[in-house]
Amino acid sequence: MVLLPAELQRVGIPPIKCQGIKSKLVAFIGESVRWNGEGRWIEPFLGSGVVAFNLLPPNALLADSNCHIIRFYQAIQQGTIDRLIVQTFLTQEGRKLQTIGAEYYYEVRDRFNQSASSLDFLFLNRACFNGIMRFNRRGKFNVPFCRKPLRFSQSYITKIANQVNWVAQQMSRTQWEFRVAPWSEIVQEAQSTDFVYLDPPYIGRHTDYYSAWTMADAEQLAIVTQQLPCGFAVSMWLENQHRKNDHIQQHWAELELRLFQHYYHVGATENWRGEMTEALLIKPEFAI
Ligand SMILES: C[S@@+](CC[C@H](N)C(=O)[O-])C[C@H]1O[C@@H](n2cnc3c(N)ncnc32)[C@H](O)[C@@H]1O
Repeated sequence: MVLLPAELQRVGIPPIKCQGIKSKLVAFIGESVRWNGEGRWIEPFLGSGVVAFNLLPPNALLADSNCHIIRFYQAIQQGTIDRLIVQTFLTQEGRKLQTIGAEYYYEVRDRFNQSASSLDFLFLNRACFNGIMRFNRRGKFNVPFCRKPLRFSQSYITKIANQVNWVAQQMSRTQWEFRVAPWSEIVQEAQSTDFVYLDPPYIGRHTDYYSAWTMADAEQLAIVTQQLPCGFAVSMWLENQHRKNDHIQQHWAELELRLFQHYYHVGATENWRGEMTEALLIKPEFAI
C-alpha cells in the first residue's frame, strides 16, 4: 500500500478555521512526502484538521492541546453533531444575531466560556473577527465580533453544514482517534511504521492560540522530533518580506527542505500579511 505521494484533485475545507490553516499547502504536502501508510498518521498539532481530512490516512492519532477543537471533532465522529444539527443551530442563532446584533455575539461568547459547548464554539469560530482562534491566560475565548450581524446567511450556513458532513464522511471511512494532549505526550507513541506530521504554532506568532508557544518549546520539538523512530515532516514558515526564520538553519539543518510560496492574509498586523515562504522539513528517506 502507498498512501503518499498523493495527487489531490480538490482540497476539502473543514468547518473549523484557525491561524496557520494549511488548506493551500495540503496538495504540496501530499506531493512532497513518501510513506506507505502501514502505520498510523500522527498529527499532534491538528488545528482545523485540513491535512488529515484530505490525505485520509486509514489509521490516525489526531491531537491538539485545544480541547474545544478535539471535542468538536469527537462530537462529529460520535454523531452528536451532524449536518442537520448544525443547520438548525446556526439558523436559530444566526437569526438572533441578525435581530440583536453584536450584543448577541458577546452573549454566546460568555455562554461558551461558561459551558464550552461545541456548537457555540463553531458559531464563534465562524462569526469572530478574522476567523482568529484566541484564548486569554484563563483559557477564555476572547476574539471580538466580526461586526457582520448578517453573517449567517442561508448559503453560509449550508456551506458550514456541508463542511461538517464532509468531515463526518471522511471519519466514517477511517479509524481515527482524536485526543486532547500536549504534543510531547503524543509523539512518544510513535512506532517505526508511523508517520508524524507536525505543524506547531509559528515562533513569534500565534502565541495565544490556546497554549503559549515559546522558543524553548520550538527547540525541544526539534530535538525530540529528530529522534523519532519513524518518518516525519514539519511545517514552518521560512521567510516573508520582513523576516527570516533562523530557527530552521539552527535546529533543522539535516533535513530535506521543500518550499512553497503563498499569500498570507490572516494576521493582526501588517507585518504578518503578504507573501510568505513556507518550509516543509522532511526526514530525508521520506522526501520526494
Ligand atoms: C499551526 S496550528 C495547526 C494548523 C493545522 N495544521 C491546520 O492546517 O489547520 C497549531 C496548533 O497547535 C496547537 N498547539 C499549540 N500548542 C500545543 C501544544 N503544546 N501541544 C499540542 N498542540 C498545541 C494549537 O492549538 C493549534 O491548533
